[in-house]
Amino acid sequence: MCRKQLVLLCQILVLLQVLNCSRAVLYEFVMAEEEIFSDCMDNPKGYLNITGLMDFSSTSMEMVEEGIILDGNMTSVWKVYPTDTIKGSFALFYYDRGTWQQTILSMSVGDFCKVMYKENQYWFIHWTQHVTNIEVRDKCLSLGTMLIIERYTFSLKFGLDVPLRSGRYRIVYNLVATDRTGVRRKNGICFEIRGDINRAQ
Ligand SMILES: *[C@@H]1O[C@H](CO)[C@@H](O)[C@H](O)[C@H]1NC(C)=O
Ligand SMILES: *[C@@H]1O[C@H](CO)[C@@H](O)[C@H](O)[C@H]1NC(C)=O
Repeated sequence: MCRKQLVLLCQILVLLQVLNCSRAVLYEFVMAEEEIFSDCMDNPKGYLNITGLMDFSSTSMEMVEEGIILDGNMTSVWKVYPTDTIKGSFALFYYDRGTWQQTILSMSVGDFCKVMYKENQYWFIHWTQHVTNIEVRDKCLSLGTMLIIERYTFSLKFGLDVPLRSGRYRIVYNLVATDRTGVRRKNGICFEIRGDINRAQ
């Protein structure tokens, strides 16, 4: 093999190794606010915040070193119905020299209720697998649905295969429903979780 090819091969190997290593990187999200949820900085017109989605008055949330211990139940106060289609998305933003930049970490699902219990999904691992009452599978997030939560710790550590800079971040969540005739409802939901992301030990 000529030298040029060797150098190229080495570069590819190094690159693969970097990608491989980064897969093992464990990050930690340190919340900025005690209330967990914040209003959206760029709230779409007419959208409600987290209080328009869920009643958490029967949910206990206790912040501990490993994360948030969740227990109790939560009830939807969102005026959407079981026949609606709910679109959900989230996007991660990084604070860089005075402005918020969107990162490549974002996701959107066209029919959240269909994939709510899909294993390996972020929300399944961190949330819906701990919802114990079966009727949620049909009623999803529709008005009045109670989600009974088994006590678990919502972990604030996560492994990622993309490198992230340490610093200030916010995760913006959006939910919007479409009624059965295909008309988009105006009462979308937008909320944020703000904090710092650091490498975990
Ligand atoms: C959400 O909206 C309600 C009603 O408009 C408001 O009282 C509350 O302060 C807002 N923010 C949060 C984080 O709940
Ligand atoms: C919901 O939580 C409240 C407060 O913890 C509790 O009193 C109530 O029994 C719970 N309801 C159900 C159906 O689990």
